[in-house]
Amino acid sequence: MFNVVKGTHDVIKEEAKKYSYIEEVMTNIAVIYGYQEFRTPVIESSDLFTRSVGDSSDIVRKEMYTFEDKGGRNITLRPEMTAGIIRSMVNAKLFAIQDYPVKAFYCGPNFRYERPQQGRYRQFNQFGIECTGVTTVERDVEVIALGYTMLKYLNFGKVKLLINTLGDEQSRENYKTALKEYFGKHIENMCSDCQERYKLNILRILDCKDPADRPIIDGAPKIQDYLTDAAKERFEKVKEYLTKLEIPFEVDQELVRGLDYYTGVVFEFHYTSQNGNNYGAIGAGGHYGNLIKEIGGPDLEGVGFAFGIERLAKVMEDDNLFPNLDNTTDIFIMPMGDKARDFAVGLAFQLRKAFYSCEVCYEQKGMGQMFKKAERRNSKLAFIIGDDEILNETVTVKKLDTKEQVSVKLDDLDDFLGKYFNSESEHHHHECECCEGDDCECKHDHEEGHCCHHHDGCCKKA
Ligand code: HAM
Repeated sequence: MFNVVKGTHDVIKEEAKKYSYIEEVMTNIAVIYGYQEFRTPVIESSDLFTRSVGDSSDIVRKEMYTFEDKGGRNITLRPEMTAGIIRSMVNAKLFAIQDYPVKAFYCGPNFRYERPQQGRYRQFNQFGIECTGVTTVERDVEVIALGYTMLKYLNFGKVKLLINTLGDEQSRENYKTALKEYFGKHIENMCSDCQERYKLNILRILDCKDPADRPIIDGAPKIQDYLTDAAKERFEKVKEYLTKLEIPFEVDQELVRGLDYYTGVVFEFHYTSQNGNNYGAIGAGGHYGNLIKEIGGPDLEGVGFAFGIERLAKVMEDDNLFPNLDNTTDIFIMPMGDKARDFAVGLAFQLRKAFYSCEVCYEQKGMGQMFKKAERRNSKLAFIIGDDEILNETVTVKKLDTKEQVSVKLDDLDDFLGKYFNSESEHHHHECECCEGDDCECKHDHEEGHCCHHHDGCCKKA
């Protein structure tokens, strides 16, 4: 017996469908916002992350899967995707034609050697976007709005959006000086991590999770008091725009994020499910002023975010935010005897070619067992084929919902199926599974008319 490696997990069957659904919804919206897909390698030079995520971050200091390959290269399994995406943009010279922004969306696994717990894995999946070659505050807001829209289309009702600013260079220098002075008085009584952060990157101390350090951190100076006028004005603009777009947010002055590349606005999306589960930020991002230059590109800025698919799937399961993703089988073929089995091989091939999902029971089973199998596969129709049917060139079709049974000539089968499944899909289109009229108790977001977005807006409640 082999088990999955600690901190990793298999995503199979229904769960994999949920992940695909999340990725599909996010992809559709990213495309509407003008993003194109980027796929970059899982392995990168270790230096890339030391440079970008930063050697004072926990990720680089303690969490990277780093190894030397057989050619003596220092390699790291990516702990996040922004650095690789920017590297790919620089390598492909996408900044050369100066047609900005360059917009990328991406999805894939990441690796961090963290302490595994609910919603925290050592291999986890992200869906993210990067909007680069930009400086304006409007782009920052556009990116936050994109993240918010994705969550809305995933059926999230209330999400908590936390925002903060790390200001411009001058603001951060002023702030760091103030923090040095403040923490200088307390650092001896703080955890060993904080003592290291004090030396490496003092902002990181604000991120400390050690409860014993909290009271000291709570008393620390706040960034807002050290912002230059320009930085203050820019952050005000972010707030104004978000208000205008009716995107609710809270300012969290301790939000500094765990990666070193951020400058300017940073943000996190949080969600607590009805039963009180909160697995940490479901998505997060921010503006980065120096990253592109650090990675060897021109002096351009960017802004982006990434969602954690595992965390999204967990809270969506908790609160029933997924549409019905059950597998269905259009046709379940039940051949009775050798001749029928022989015939079923060709029939199944043709049906599948015509895009009907189809399964055949080649195993010798009794009728009852075959109907059970059909049921387990959520089949719509059963085709019963025996010697008589072969002789008469017909199939006996049983509609599994109404139990109605008809005999259909092979020549008429195309027509029959066309009619049957067309009227089926119309029926589906008008049927809303989550919303039971005015007394609907589903937790979906009726205000936005997204309750049944997967049915193409069939349920538009005011
Ligand atoms: P991050 O905050 O490190 O940011 O990760 C983004 C999201 O990935 C988190 O909000 C969380 O949902 C998920 N996540 C992170 N670590 C784990 C884990 N161990 N297990 C499960 N889920 C996890 C970044 O990675 C930045 N690259 C985001 C970004 C893009 N900033 C600008 N552009």
